[in-house]
Amino acid sequence: MIRIAVLVSGRGSNLQAIIDSIENKYLHAQISVVISDIGDAYALERARKHGINAVHIDPGKFASKASYEAEVLKTLNSHNVQLVLLAGYMKILGKTLLTAYKDRILNIHPALLPAFPGLHAQEQAFKHGVKVAGCTVHFVDEELDGGPIILQKCVEVKEDDTAQTLADRILEQEHKIYPEAIKLFAENKLRIEGRKVKIIK
Ligand code: GAR
Repeated sequence: MIRIAVLVSGRGSNLQAIIDSIENKYLHAQISVVISDIGDAYALERARKHGINAVHIDPGKFASKASYEAEVLKTLNSHNVQLVLLAGYMKILGKTLLTAYKDRILNIHPALLPAFPGLHAQEQAFKHGVKVAGCTVHFVDEELDGGPIILQKCVEVKEDDTAQTLADRILEQEHKIYPEAIKLFAENKLRIEGRKVKIIK
């Protein structure tokens, strides 16, 4: 069973979707640890409610990104983590984690990448006037929201949408495609070939 760590910063609804997918046996995986850079992130509470080890590592207590990430890495190693999932984790990853977990870090982003990387992607898309929005699960590399794409899901923009109603419908899809992508990884069905991710049937 693959050992997973989930890195979070906020409410943790994607974390919840992953927990639910494990509990209902869709995903054959174990969340070994949840790590938050924010002490009062609701995601930590969600993890603890399910008996999952949840820790706050405060970046403010470290002199540099490298030393903060070294502490995160120590925690990952102590749990023999095989796959790292970013789920609403709002820090940009540095070399320490990217090197140690090369091709073993996934992220969910609330836009159809490469459109609208960065913060508030749903609002960026809505304000831009797109007719189709969506979400993306991708491997994480040194480029912000730029790694090879695993799965995407489209969400149609309705005439009466607000940025919030659109974001809510995108989130529903996030909760579906993240567990799907994790399952593919766990079953060793993903092959990175340059920019492309081949999915083995
Ligand atoms: C999600 O919409 C996720 O896609 C987004 O933050 C939200 C976290 O919600 N991530 C990013 O924007 C990363 N660039 P959650 O804490 O309820 O899962």
